[in-house]
Parts: sequence; structure tokens; C-alpha cells
Amino acid sequence: MQLINDHFQNKKQYNIPPAQLVIADIPYNVGKDAYGSSPKWYVDGDNKNGESNLAGKEFFDTDKNFKIPEFFAFCGRFLKPEPKETNAAPCLIVFCAYEQQFELIEQAAKAGFKNYIPLSFYKNYSPQVLKANMRIVGNTEYALLFYRDKLPKFNNNGRMIFNSLPMERDTDTPRIHPTQKPLSLLKYLILLFTDKGDVVVDPCAGSGTTLLAAEQLGRKAYGFEIKKEFCKAFEDNFNREIETELGF
Ligand SMILES: C[S@@+](CC[C@H](N)C(=O)[O-])C[C@H]1O[C@@H](n2cnc3c(N)ncnc32)[C@H](O)[C@@H]1O
Repeated sequence: MQLINDHFQNKKQYNIPPAQLVIADIPYNVGKDAYGSSPKWYVDGDNKNGESNLAGKEFFDTDKNFKIPEFFAFCGRFLKPEPKETNAAPCLIVFCAYEQQFELIEQAAKAGFKNYIPLSFYKNYSPQVLKANMRIVGNTEYALLFYRDKLPKFNNNGRMIFNSLPMERDTDTPRIHPTQKPLSLLKYLILLFTDKGDVVVDPCAGSGTTLLAAEQLGRKAYGFEIKKEFCKAFEDNFNREIETELGF
């Protein structure tokens, strides 16, 4: 697996084979409101104690000005072209904020991804506890699965797959990124839409857990991440883990 410390827009400089699956968790562009409804805004989670050092801070300094049209212009080029046979087409899964879905659907269609399936992932906890007095708090994450014309390769073994799935808290994987996705969920999606030996690409890789999940399942994994510290943490935690497993 290879996590490249660069913008995915520089794809051409690297020799990445065409992917069966692109998984991207794009920046939600929340900027300085990142902890707005989380107890982390206050010292020890209590507003009587005053604001913590996370008040008014961004999740990461690249969580703003992310351009969705540009993302699709590049992302389509990571994927394999539409194959002749059925049950072989590639697809693109984009984790996003609820409000980003509408622009994503519009821009994806312009880039040739005319079809989509909405996905949602429900947690048994909510990061929005400060909004508890609103009675309804968010425990859902959203994603859209895009494909061109043919339905994606789909390893469902004859079972029906719901478009709303549980998202279990991942307490085993080292925590590198504030919006890190659970390894078990990434593995579930990779198993569903790829076979062993297929290529999986994450253009906004953050911690690199998509790459780790793909590698552990025998897929070829590539990713891009612009922040050096996430790439270093990936090398220290995940690439080393794989090397140890292989006995280096
Ligand atoms: C929402 S986070 C992804 C978190 C990831 N899913 C995880 O489990 O850790 C999005 C990441 O995309 C990175 N990013 C933003 N623009 C990028 C670009 N043009 N090329 C590569 N990475 C980018 C950000 O630095 C950020 O770490």
C-alpha cells in the first residue's frame, strides 16, 4: 500500500493503476465551527469551566475551500473505464456532510456519474450532545455511491444489502485523524465492491485507514493526503503494522 503525501490533483506524477473502487471522505468545509456542537468546545466538556483550546478551531487546516467540481474532474480518472461485461463496473463512494450531497449529485452527473445510491451510517452515540435540548441529535454519517451506466461489481452472495448500515465505534485502530472512519466499515464496503487483487484508491486519505483495510483484504491500495503529519502517523502506525505482520 502507498500513501502519497501530495494533492490528488497531482495524480499524473505517480504510477497508479486504474481502480475498481474509489473511497473518498472529503473535507466537510466546516472550518472554525468543527467542534461547535461537541462538548470538546469546553474544558472537561462542561460549559461552566469555560472554553477549551478546541473552541473556534478547525478539525484540520485543510477543512475549508474544498472544491467539489474539481474533485470529480480528477476522481473519474482514478477509476477503471466502463467494462463490457456485467458485474464488473467500478464505483466511487464519497463520504460527505448532509448538505454536500446535493452539489455532489449535480457535479457527479456532469463528470459522467449519472447514477447514485444514497448510503447512511448510524452510530449508537452522537457527537452533538450540546444540542441535546433540541431533542433530536445527529448520529448519522452520509455517503453517496456513484457509478456511470452499469451497476457496480457487487459481492452480495445473494443477500439483500440495506442502504442504512451501523457504524460501530473503532476502539482497536490507533486514532490519527479527527474524522477517522472505522476499519470494520471500510472493510465491509471494500468486500462488497471489490475482489482480491483489485485496486482501491482514497484521494483524501487522512489517516490512511482505507488503505489499511484494503491491504488487509488483499487489495492493492493507494492514497493521497496533503498533510505531512497524517502521512507520518500512517507510516508509524499502519505501514509498520503490516511490516511486522509480514515478519520484517
Ligand atoms: C475528512 S478527511 C479524511 C479522513 C479519513 N477518512 C480518515 O479515516 O482518516 C479529508 C482529508 O483530505 C485531505 N485533503 C484535502 N484536500 C486534499 C487534496 N487536494 N489532496 C489530498 N488530500 C486532501 C485533508 O487534509 C484531510 O485529511
